[in-house]
Amino acid sequence: MDSLTFVLFGATGDLAKRKIFPSLFHLFLDGKMPKSFTIIGLGRREWSDQTFQMHVEKSLQTFSKRSENGDASKVREFLSAFRYSSLDVTDHDGYKQVLGMVQKREEELGIPENRLFYLSVAPEFFDVISQNIKESGLGSIKGWKRLVIEKPFGHDLKSAQELIAKLSNAFEVDEIYLIDHYLGKPMVQNMESIKFANPMFQSLWNNKHIANVQITASETVGVEERAGYYDQVGAIRDMVQNHMLQLVMMTAMQQPTRIGANEIRNKKIKVMEFLRPLQKDEVVRDVVRGQYEKGYMNGELVPAYTDEPSIEGTSMNDTFIAARLWIDDPFWSGVPFYIRTGKRMKEKSTRIVIEFKNPIKDLYQEKNEETAPNLLIIEIGPNEGISIQFNSKNPLNHGKNEPVTGRFLANKKSMPEAYELLLSDALHGDSTFFVQWKEVELSWKWAEPILEAFEENNLPLHLYQSGSMGPEASEQLLQEDGFKWW
Ligand code: BG6
Repeated sequence: MDSLTFVLFGATGDLAKRKIFPSLFHLFLDGKMPKSFTIIGLGRREWSDQTFQMHVEKSLQTFSKRSENGDASKVREFLSAFRYSSLDVTDHDGYKQVLGMVQKREEELGIPENRLFYLSVAPEFFDVISQNIKESGLGSIKGWKRLVIEKPFGHDLKSAQELIAKLSNAFEVDEIYLIDHYLGKPMVQNMESIKFANPMFQSLWNNKHIANVQITASETVGVEERAGYYDQVGAIRDMVQNHMLQLVMMTAMQQPTRIGANEIRNKKIKVMEFLRPLQKDEVVRDVVRGQYEKGYMNGELVPAYTDEPSIEGTSMNDTFIAARLWIDDPFWSGVPFYIRTGKRMKEKSTRIVIEFKNPIKDLYQEKNEETAPNLLIIEIGPNEGISIQFNSKNPLNHGKNEPVTGRFLANKKSMPEAYELLLSDALHGDSTFFVQWKEVELSWKWAEPILEAFEENNLPLHLYQSGSMGPEASEQLLQEDGFKWW
């Protein structure tokens, strides 16, 4: 792998501490960092290199599941790659100093000008930082440069398009790596293998055999300390426009001619192109909007969304969304995709359930027996695994058919974290599991009528009890089609 300089904006922030440092450390322990590299942290605080290194060390102790087994000399070696400079990201002149520091390190280490800029900052700074990278000369390099940013990519179609236009002033579109951390989850990446490396599943992956697809991302947490942000975005912008649609794309994409970044990404785009657009007045039919009420979670009473600190009592913000989607291509036409996501739900679970058609139902009816549908369940988190539900005779119950489940569970301890996989890909320049601008645009386009309908209050806001699986209306959504949530 190429030697490089990793320039981290927002190095004193929360994401850096919780995810970025531990992930880089794990890559380092596994020999997945380049032979020579330096990490330059930038933040507002006036820190020395030493203070920064101590901060990184503390982050490893607190957030790395492998630090306790780590060899102290490895930790020291890793920390020695870190340097720090304080920077007000809006101060044009400050970037010159950063450039000096980057060049000095490149010279000291004898490494080429390969620079990865990671913007772990609020989205309003994406534009000013990328412009300053360009104008200061930080981005004028002989090697390669990459820009890594994480959602939100705009708050609607127009602002997303503006962002794309601005960033592409300073970086080529294929130098920009857009993170959706769901695409870094091992089981989401594994969707590719499950479908394409297994003829058994591949041959069934279409509307001839699949009755419906159900994608759930339920959370137990409430709004936490993010009231200011969350009350402006709701579940639709926070989870649906990005994570949930990415899961739809990963589930529905058709087999590419070869397993390569462009091929896979093009197949994902195809899904979005065939996703049936909703009209504003149809939103009420296909989308359920909910907000949590007070309720018991693990025996403890938690407040309603509107009683959370810093949330207005009159807020109509959505903390839950369920929706029915259709993909109008020859493979999926007629198969509903149901998605649901919400806060303060009964359990933390992200999973994709494929329910197969059940044409043999009648065969056993004469014997007064029911056969349950076959299910393929892809568990994305908190456990990672795959289950298959099938029917089997139970000799202890008069030989009747009963559904049984076979489950493969991955070893949680050895599973890499999403950021580890994504950072490793960004360092290698592999963009397979990064979001493309086109996907961002098509996702906003799809979400737009929903955003408008919410704004105009065209559909009810269903309250649901904290600790439940969401409002009753989301059950009805499936019942209308003769299905239920699994
Ligand atoms: C984030 C959202 O993108 O994803 C959060 O902003 C949400 O509101 C989180 O809690 C869920 O991620 P995960 O990995 O815990 O499912």
